[in-house]
Amino acid sequence: MPIKDKIKELMDMRAKARLGGGIERIEAQHQKGKYTARERIEMLLDEGSFEEFDMFVTHRSVDFGLEKQTYLSDGVITGYGTVDGRLVYVFSQDFTVFGGSLSEMYAQKICKVMDQAMKVGAPIIGFNDSGGARIQEGVKSLGGYADIFQRNIMASGVVPQISAIFGPCAGGAVYSPALTDFTIMSKGTSYMFVTGPKVVKTVTGEVVTEEELGGASVHTIKSGVAHFMVENEKEGIMIIRKLLTYLPQNNMEDPIVTICDDPINRLEDSLNEIIPENPNKPYDVKDVIHAIVDFNEFLEVQRNYAPNIITGYAKFNGQPVGIVANQPNYLAGVLDINASRKAARFVRFCDAFNIPIVTLVDVPGFLPGTAQEYGGIILHGAKLLYAYGEATVPKVTIILRKAYGGAYDVMSSKHLRGDINYAWPMAEIAVMGPKGAIEVLHAKELRAIEDSEERAKFVLEKEHEYKEKFANPYVAAKFGYIDDVIEPRNSRFRIIRALQMLSTKKDYNPPKKHSNLPL
Ligand code: HXC
Repeated sequence: MPIKDKIKELMDMRAKARLGGGIERIEAQHQKGKYTARERIEMLLDEGSFEEFDMFVTHRSVDFGLEKQTYLSDGVITGYGTVDGRLVYVFSQDFTVFGGSLSEMYAQKICKVMDQAMKVGAPIIGFNDSGGARIQEGVKSLGGYADIFQRNIMASGVVPQISAIFGPCAGGAVYSPALTDFTIMSKGTSYMFVTGPKVVKTVTGEVVTEEELGGASVHTIKSGVAHFMVENEKEGIMIIRKLLTYLPQNNMEDPIVTICDDPINRLEDSLNEIIPENPNKPYDVKDVIHAIVDFNEFLEVQRNYAPNIITGYAKFNGQPVGIVANQPNYLAGVLDINASRKAARFVRFCDAFNIPIVTLVDVPGFLPGTAQEYGGIILHGAKLLYAYGEATVPKVTIILRKAYGGAYDVMSSKHLRGDINYAWPMAEIAVMGPKGAIEVLHAKELRAIEDSEERAKFVLEKEHEYKEKFANPYVAAKFGYIDDVIEPRNSRFRIIRALQMLSTKKDYNPPKKHSNLPL
């Protein structure tokens, strides 16, 4: 064949591959409000940066008439490219080919990019839109999934892994995203569940829609499986690009510090006024976060799940940090099972990827009650404690107001290798709140006072005494548990200085096979 024709043959094959399952199925995809696998990659990567692998791969199946039905690329697009000039690996499941279902060769394509990402040390981003295991391929498809899971596990803590769910993700297929670091779900067009509505109905009799069982709101509000719910795929892709700006390429690198012209010594007078006089009144800790970070920019992670604790990324003088903050605006900022799990996972991710952690504390304690105890708050609370104690990245903490009981210890205290621990003058650091403390300490005296007015007067007096003694930051500061009591409006400057000082910090954990995190 003349060279000219050979080149034409290549071009024709490429054009055919780019059509995936054909124009009709592409149109059907668009009609559902979804983009195609290739369009998603184009939107994610810097223009013209995509290098595709394995365009000519086809399946090897000869059962169920599949030998007559082959598509170039076999239902998944893989390769590498750049985001803001930084290398990333991608795979994108193509629903137009066998419903994006996973075959042996399809799995091998994904494994190839995962292996390269690990060798080179670059993030892996996966777009999920698939009917699950390719039914005709049987156990080969199941094996393919497990090959991917194994790589997800090996890559965990080595390179960042991000999953976007932009369509179905069902059965065992859900476990690959679950093993990755961040999961994004599009509202109304994505769902994740281990068993679908039909099986649920057969087994339990429960009637439930796909959306109710595993839609984006279920997993971002109720289960905590996903981290971001987005209105549409474009927004999801923008979030991935933004998220990457806070992350290093791999665990051997630090996140990129950018040039920042937001003044480091910007005083935020509003912070001197933000804490209400009445300690039982809430305020929005996000106002504090926005006030102190560069350009008021904060990328919140798991915004709708356990909103009594806030987690997310921001920069201080261009240095990416993870922020954890109790939220007095929701359940008074109490620590419960979900908040503990959410923050523990976030802290561990930051630590794995050399991202310093800034913690803002205003916590009345752990949520009491049978629901929490039966649900294992002891173990879940221990996760957060463990995560902070294990973390060796720079840890800067400010106690804004309350730090009561075990929650004082847990929230990145000095005792858990907190590097710099500051408190605002309004801080209250004690074993418990004044009311509870008086009831325990003066139970006998209280029982002896018959007159209710007299009893109330006694309680007030004792509460006042207790507050004078404990409800301030100076007892903790006296013992060096607090490095300094700072003026709230100076917080930005003091955090930036602390982070600069800690930029060469080295700390270690003893050698071990792995820890025994209280799972
Ligand atoms: C092979 C599949 C397929 C699959 C879909 N298709 N799922 N082919 N294996 N798993 C094909 C369809 O035959 C159809 O082909 C095309 O993809 C589009 O599917 P539709 O059903 O027309 O699309 P839609 O109505 O949008 O429904 C999508 C769907 C549905 C909800 C995903 O297809 C579905 O329920 N599929 C089966 C899902 C499933 O049970 N998977 C196994 C899960 S268990 P044509 O030629 O008509 O376009 C699992 C185990 C993993 O995955 C274990 C890992 C450990």
